Amino acid sequence: MKHITDISELKTIINQYKSVGKSIGFVPTMGFLHEGHLTLADKASKENDIAVMSIFVNPAQFGPGEDFEAYPRDLERDTKLAENAGIDLLFTPSADSMYNCDPNVAVQVKRRTDVLCGRSREGHFDGVATVLTKFFNLIKPERAYFGLKDAQQVAVVDGLISDFFMDIELVGVDTVREEDGLAKSSRNVYLTEKERNEAPRLYKALQQGAELIRAGERNPEAVIKAAADIIGTTSGAIDYVELYSYPELTKQDKLEGKVILAAAVKFSKARLIDNIIIDIHEMERI
Ligand code: PAF
Repeated sequence: MKHITDISELKTIINQYKSVGKSIGFVPTMGFLHEGHLTLADKASKENDIAVMSIFVNPAQFGPGEDFEAYPRDLERDTKLAENAGIDLLFTPSADSMYNCDPNVAVQVKRRTDVLCGRSREGHFDGVATVLTKFFNLIKPERAYFGLKDAQQVAVVDGLISDFFMDIELVGVDTVREEDGLAKSSRNVYLTEKERNEAPRLYKALQQGAELIRAGERNPEAVIKAAADIIGTTSGAIDYVELYSYPELTKQDKLEGKVILAAAVKFSKARLIDNIIIDIHEMERI
């Protein structure tokens, strides 16, 4: 595996790959890799000639008071994991090289951001879209891989790719879970023992909501209440439990089409998110 930190060196190598017609699969990450990331890496490696991973804790997507400084970092461990997962090129740029100190342009996301995590993280998705536009231009991938655990991010990237006519296939990959259902996340290490025991209830609550929809419930409020009642039995504080069309992320009076039931819960040192995407048309056809 090649490890590159320098942007001009990256450009040279990417141009070499492109000149001999190699396809590139890209896995953007902020590091502290877990099984979720490694599943994306494995898929990118199998579906493309070259698998590229970036590890970059992107300052532009953290608001004041968020955990940018405390975000877990372990490049040595990540390098070994990335190599074992089939990554051919690891790109770990510095913040200075990615961000001109006085930027000329930043991307502003107009839709799909005023709900779910976007509501309480002003500017977060602008930072995500800006850094991804930079990475997409540098890495020129045919395919980009994202975990559906952050389904709002996938919806925003879908909007970015289509609005800016990017020739990139967006590959959303199912959430990787612990045996008890808890979605894998770099932030799980911050849970206390008690919170770790309670955390799987988040997914159970979403499953219960999905079950109601499967049984014919089409009133979003009824589904939300059922899920919130279960999450309410944990010591975490509910940030949101919401239900929208997907990927547009708009409210529905009566559930139809593809929908997302998503929740965020604040524990003492970790805020966990999870979701379930349900295709009601598909379900009704079966
Ligand atoms: O999901 C993440 O880890 C980040 O938002 C991403 C896509 C790497 C952009 O910084």
